[in-house]
Amino acid sequence: MKDMYILGIESSCDETSASIVKNGTEEIATVISSQIDIHKDYGGVVPEIASRHHVKNITIVLEECLEKANMKMEDIDAIAITYGPGLIGSLLVGLEAAKTLSFVYQKPLIPVHHIAGHIYANSLVGELQFPLLAVVVSGGHTEIIEMRDHYQFEKLGGTLDDAIGECYDKVARVIGLEYPGGPKIDQLSVEGEPTYKLPLPLQDGSYHFSFSGLKSAVINLVHNEEQRGQEIRQADLAASFQKIAVSSITSKVRKAIVDKGIQNVIVAGGVAANKGLRKAMEELCDELHVHLSIPPMRYCTDNGTMIAAAGYYAYLQGRRADLSLNAKSQDTLK
Ligand code: KG4
Ligand code: ZN
Repeated sequence: MKDMYILGIESSCDETSASIVKNGTEEIATVISSQIDIHKDYGGVVPEIASRHHVKNITIVLEECLEKANMKMEDIDAIAITYGPGLIGSLLVGLEAAKTLSFVYQKPLIPVHHIAGHIYANSLVGELQFPLLAVVVSGGHTEIIEMRDHYQFEKLGGTLDDAIGECYDKVARVIGLEYPGGPKIDQLSVEGEPTYKLPLPLQDGSYHFSFSGLKSAVINLVHNEEQRGQEIRQADLAASFQKIAVSSITSKVRKAIVDKGIQNVIVAGGVAANKGLRKAMEELCDELHVHLSIPPMRYCTDNGTMIAAAGYYAYLQGRRADLSLNAKSQDTLK
């Protein structure tokens, strides 16, 4: 089969990104424009502001990506686009750009679910080996998914309330760290000891997660300490929170590996960049003699590369969209 160059476009939250990937595994060029500095003044992503910045950036990002790859639109075989889930206004900007390019250059349009993108970020490390367990940990998702083949997703469990990344960001805000707080808690936790006692959530034998109780426990602890005139030991609290958050993930993953006789595990999503989680997953998979794949940091948070990679496998499955494709703020992974 001839080489396939897919242009992947991602704009579901606060990153505008375009990337060209060859045959689903080889990154040719990527451009990511992040709005973190803009949203951090507000303590989180402001949807209205995010979409306006996507509008401003999308053409520049696309042009830069083609330039970096030394390619023209005529050299592209298909366009992969995140249609959802995400912020509707943000999604629409990338989607309209993708539809326009597809129409003008007569290129196939491939719809990509954002979480499929995070999962397929792992194919930039090596071809996915099935059956596998995908541990999806991001700002909007915390899910354990079993895959028997490409694009066959069986959700074993998910969060009943907050996503893990969302919980990281909220806890960070309570202890006075800037948005996005996840990476900052991760950094700080190395300097502290897990001396604060926090509850390990939802030990009920299911594959589900719950993070709102853990978040409330941190908020209550901070308020109680403040009322008693005690200073919070930030690094110790970060270490205590990280220890519980990570073990609440690994305990469920351990159960799924054992129950389902899994041999391959992949980690996906922004929180896959977490050093504590990476280490704990490595230790768990070593102990259970299971193969583990975690994407390099730059493929963990939102990017067009993962969308192009996911788009390639979707293309091989015959998945196509026409110009009636619409953005979806919510959608099940399929
Ligand atoms: O996947 P992503 O870029 O966006 C969504 O699809 O949600 O994930 C962003 C989330 C944020 O909540 C951010 O705080 C978290 O990933 N994150 C981290 C780390 N790096 C990013 N959380 C904990 N530790 C990190 N090192
Ligand atoms: Zn994401």
